Amino acid sequence: MAPNFFQQKPKPAPKGSAAIPGRELPSRPWIEKYRPKHMNDISSQEEVVAVLQKTLESQNYDLKLPHLLFYGPPGTGKTSTILALAKELYGPDMIRDRVLELNASDERGIDVIRAKVKNFAKVTVSHSVNGWPCPPYKIIILDEADSMTTDAQSALRRTMETYSKSTRFCLICNYISRIIEPLASRCAKFRFKPLDTASTTSRIEHICQNEGVNAPRETVETLVRLADGDMRRSIMLLQSAFRLHKTNVITKEVIWEIAGVVPEPVIDGLLAAWHSRDVAKMELAVERVVRLGYSGTQLLDQLQDRIITDDHLSSIQKSKISISIAEMDKALVDGADEQLQLLRLFVTAY
Ligand SMILES: Nc1ncnc2c1ncn2[C@@H]1O[C@H](COP(=O)(O)OP(=O)(O)OP(=O)(O)O)[C@@H](O)[C@H]1O
Ligand SMILES: [Mg+2]
Repeated sequence: MAPNFFQQKPKPAPKGSAAIPGRELPSRPWIEKYRPKHMNDISSQEEVVAVLQKTLESQNYDLKLPHLLFYGPPGTGKTSTILALAKELYGPDMIRDRVLELNASDERGIDVIRAKVKNFAKVTVSHSVNGWPCPPYKIIILDEADSMTTDAQSALRRTMETYSKSTRFCLICNYISRIIEPLASRCAKFRFKPLDTASTTSRIEHICQNEGVNAPRETVETLVRLADGDMRRSIMLLQSAFRLHKTNVITKEVIWEIAGVVPEPVIDGLLAAWHSRDVAKMELAVERVVRLGYSGTQLLDQLQDRIITDDHLSSIQKSKISISIAEMDKALVDGADEQLQLLRLFVTAY
């Protein structure tokens, strides 16, 4: 997921709209409102921030910044970090001219790399603008670089070298193994780890306080647990819950509902049918759960958690079931029928 951060500013409200009683201005997404503005605001990625700040402290502009490769799971601060870094380098006004962002929604075949990147990269820039000292190079951010074709990545190797005097590249991806080695080896690599519980909790509590959200401790705990290190997900869930329940207390059940989590009794019912080894019962239970409309992958996630901690199953059984769950996951991604796949899992894996 890569928001185009040059379009962050909310559109100004039409004149007079605020004055119309009962008509509220659309609220700005909290993931943008609470995007860290400075490198010091980035939580939980201390090593990455420390190394980048050290790099920036260097006196020699040419040596200051190598090509960068940020990788790690979604919602851990990769885009926010490069944005904050660019702001520190260029000041708030120069970013538009000095930073080019291309993400997966842009066409990024070999031709685009050749044309767009080269056009932007070949214009050299000066050392200071309006008194703000800035490095004599631009930054090109290639978000979701792991979705670029191998050919496009290969084409990028030469471009990176040719324009390295006037340009620095920052590649961002979730899966570093999908970046070809010659490209990865040209960059300084930074791993972003899933956010720890304490950082996510304090950030969520800060947002709750700022926005007047009535969320008890167990709701915050639920949010943090469901997000599983993805800060974007926890903030999105919180804002969705707040939109629905404004002044009321936001309970953990509301969060479950919004997150599409399958309620425990439903999972219990499925597992009971499974343990009975009665195919008719299994079929009935599967049909019921599919009719409730929960996502198959979410269901698999929760089943996996329950099975792994089930003391009645041996390690061998757990391994076999995990393999079947992995196969079902792949089948669902490929577009298989959820009901049939669930039934297959239940009748074969035990
Ligand atoms: N380390 C962090 N510190 C503070 N806030 C964070 C952090 N990581 C993520 N966030 C919050 O989550 C939102 C999304 O973060 P960001 O866009 O930087 O994630 P990302 O790592 O680029 O994810 P993706 O891989 O999906 O592009 C930010 O706007 C911010 O509100
Ligand atoms: Mg991103």
